Amino acid sequence: SQLDLVISGGTVVTAADSFPADVGIRDGRIVQIGEGLAGADRIDATGLLVLPGGIDAHVHLDQPTSDGTLMADGFASGTRSAAAGGNTTVLPFALQIKGQSLRSCVEDYHRKAQGNCHTDVSFHLIVSAPTPQALGQELPALVRDGYTSFKVFMTYDDLVLNDAELLDVFEVARRERALVMVHAEGHDAIKHLTRRLETEGRTAPFYHGQAHAQIAEREATHRAISHAQLIDLPIVIVHVSGRDPMEQIQWARARGLRVHAETCPQYIALTADDLRGLNMDFEGAKYVCSPPPRDADSQAAIWQGLRDGTFDIFSSDHCPFRFAGEASKDNPRARTSFRWVPNGIPGVETRLPILFSEGVVKGRISLQRFVALTSTNPARLYGLYPQKGSVAVGADADLTLWDPRMTRTIRQDDLNHGCDYTPYEGMEITGWPVRTLLRGRTIALNGRPMGDPGGRHLARRTSEAFGEGSGQ
Ligand code: URP
Ligand code: ZN
Ligand code: ZN
Ligand code: ZN
Repeated sequence: SQLDLVISGGTVVTAADSFPADVGIRDGRIVQIGEGLAGADRIDATGLLVLPGGIDAHVHLDQPTSDGTLMADGFASGTRSAAAGGNTTVLPFALQIKGQSLRSCVEDYHRKAQGNCHTDVSFHLIVSAPTPQALGQELPALVRDGYTSFKVFMTYDDLVLNDAELLDVFEVARRERALVMVHAEGHDAIKHLTRRLETEGRTAPFYHGQAHAQIAEREATHRAISHAQLIDLPIVIVHVSGRDPMEQIQWARARGLRVHAETCPQYIALTADDLRGLNMDFEGAKYVCSPPPRDADSQAAIWQGLRDGTFDIFSSDHCPFRFAGEASKDNPRARTSFRWVPNGIPGVETRLPILFSEGVVKGRISLQRFVALTSTNPARLYGLYPQKGSVAVGADADLTLWDPRMTRTIRQDDLNHGCDYTPYEGMEITGWPVRTLLRGRTIALNGRPMGDPGGRHLARRTSEAFGEGSGQ
């Protein structure tokens, strides 16, 4: 029968190769890849790359915070921003508040997302209270329902798990075959450094970067790896910021341990100096995230890791707080110490352009690595492959048409997120998504979201970290 839509004349890019081809779509799926295809509708992709839609596997949307700071994006604005930035799927977190059952937490996030999503979505579960009920009943049932990944924290007062709790969660994850994402920063070291800096009167946002020392990240990365080895569990170390934690990951890999890793735009495009602001002033709060950006040496290490496969995934860690106004980063307490500056920066819309421009255009990574890091690997690791993550017959027609020559300057005024600034203001970019299609329907055109929210929730399979094809 006839094709609904043909994307014609473009260059199809996968994690393995690139080739000129038309892509034929019927009922929201890719049904043919070849030459001279004809359908009811046609989109001319001459001169464009046809990429699998971006999968941003680490975004925070509509999460409450312990101090009442408001996240700048809910599911509507966050997924609109994601779509405009070339993404077709995002994986936000369902954050368990202590005392709350995991099931009711998941239901809360479904209510927030329902009817608002412009991309497909699926939740990782943040486990903050590993009670017997959560470990024994709720997590196993939720994994069976398709929530096949958890995130655990080794720092933050209201989220931190001690080593015993970490091991308990790891054990359940091994039994249920769930992939655990670890926020690896040593809580006690950070508290110690924070107190010392405050005593010395070093309270500007800049000192956030010193309190969250890379040594504390390295130590926690090693501890997470050792605990995972004790349980014989694959894990993902998320938002790896620099050379020291990377070395721990490489140490583990060299011993055959199943340790995967993620890094983010802030660790290639920002440094600790950005937290100085204009003159060690509060402007620096715009760059406060955890782990913080490091130095040029760590940036070089991260690029090496993006090339050589140390990193599987490049996600945004989009965690937007407004810089000014009510319930923003700029609040009276945050002015007294970096300790109170909400941690997180926006980036879901600029993730792909930054990696393409700084990576592919500057010759640091190949086009294939770009696709692997931003779509194929997240799909494989988080149980979405082969429905998502590749331009292939049988996959959902989630496509990003990419102009590799378009030049643009990142400007807050052009972005679609709910935040009031971008940490990448003024950055010159070559390469930008010109059209994003979700199941064959255009959801963004020339940097603007389009159409009604047609995103769906995705129940996920077992991660391929448990063995390829284990999701079958
Ligand atoms: O500073 C950050 N990244 N905040 C978001 C929460 C997290 O740890 O990913
Ligand atoms: Zn984290
Ligand atoms: Zn890996
Ligand atoms: Zn995060």
